[in-house]
Amino acid sequence: MIDFLETLFSLRGKVALVTGASRGIGAVLARALTAAGAYTVGLGRSSDPNAAFPVGSEYRQCDILDVDHFASICADVFQVNGRLDVLVNAAGITLPKSEGADALQDFGRTISTNLVAVHHCCQTSAGYMKRIGGGSIVNVTSIGSVLGFPGNPAYVASKGGLRMLTKALAMDLAHDNIRVNNLAPGYIKTDMTEASFQDPERYAERLQHMMIKRWGTPEDLAGAAIFLASDASAYITGTDLFVDGGWTAKGL
Ligand code: NAI
Repeated sequence: MIDFLETLFSLRGKVALVTGASRGIGAVLARALTAAGAYTVGLGRSSDPNAAFPVGSEYRQCDILDVDHFASICADVFQVNGRLDVLVNAAGITLPKSEGADALQDFGRTISTNLVAVHHCCQTSAGYMKRIGGGSIVNVTSIGSVLGFPGNPAYVASKGGLRMLTKALAMDLAHDNIRVNNLAPGYIKTDMTEASFQDPERYAERLQHMMIKRWGTPEDLAGAAIFLASDASAYITGTDLFVDGGWTAKGL
């Protein structure tokens, strides 16, 4: 039974790409996939990730808005390793509230990063997954992909769009044995949420929505990412896996 479980969730022999891996959720997911056995290439905008990458993984600088650079990294990873099995799209931005022309510009920047560039990453990596007979794509969305939140319509729209992009790609790529799923975090303590975590009022307001009475950590997402990347989820595609402490299921 233990052998069976180890095989089911194992990523041994697989090659994974993780975007947004210089810090926060992406950095932890890159380490989690490595621990599960995948050779993992973490990508981030920064030339210097905030933690060392363990044996069995490497870090490369790559802004996903630079589609040609992302494509050349995919080609190189495939050429060197002979395969590309898993893509985790964790790169994402949320911009502070702005007004007027700045707000319009920020809207475009958010959609470009969180939706358009992610679409490109999915399509490019899928081309390589097809060549080895299949793969798994995990898109990190948000509870904001299904719920309205105030003050940042661009972020909510980008994640709602990404949620549906996943379902559309799941249909288009199913016949190539490529699964596409959403991993939807609730409030996770990272640099992105630091300001509201540190503000006692906003911290408590968010806590009220959680059935499990604590904010999430990036490590809380590790098991779900391994599950969606591995054969343990072989019959699951086009779905949302919420890791939100019960936020989206909570009534009163
Ligand atoms: P973070 O701000 O700590 O890290 C974001 C990562 O994405 C960084 O490594 C950053 O360099 C990278 N990134 C941003 N734009 C990029 C680009 N153009 N090219 C390459 N890399 C880029 O944020 P966090 O919290 O780790 O977020 C990771 C993902 O999880 C994001 O997609 C975010 O929207 C999502 N998320 C986070 C939640 C949270 O509570 N922290 C909740 C729900 C979703």
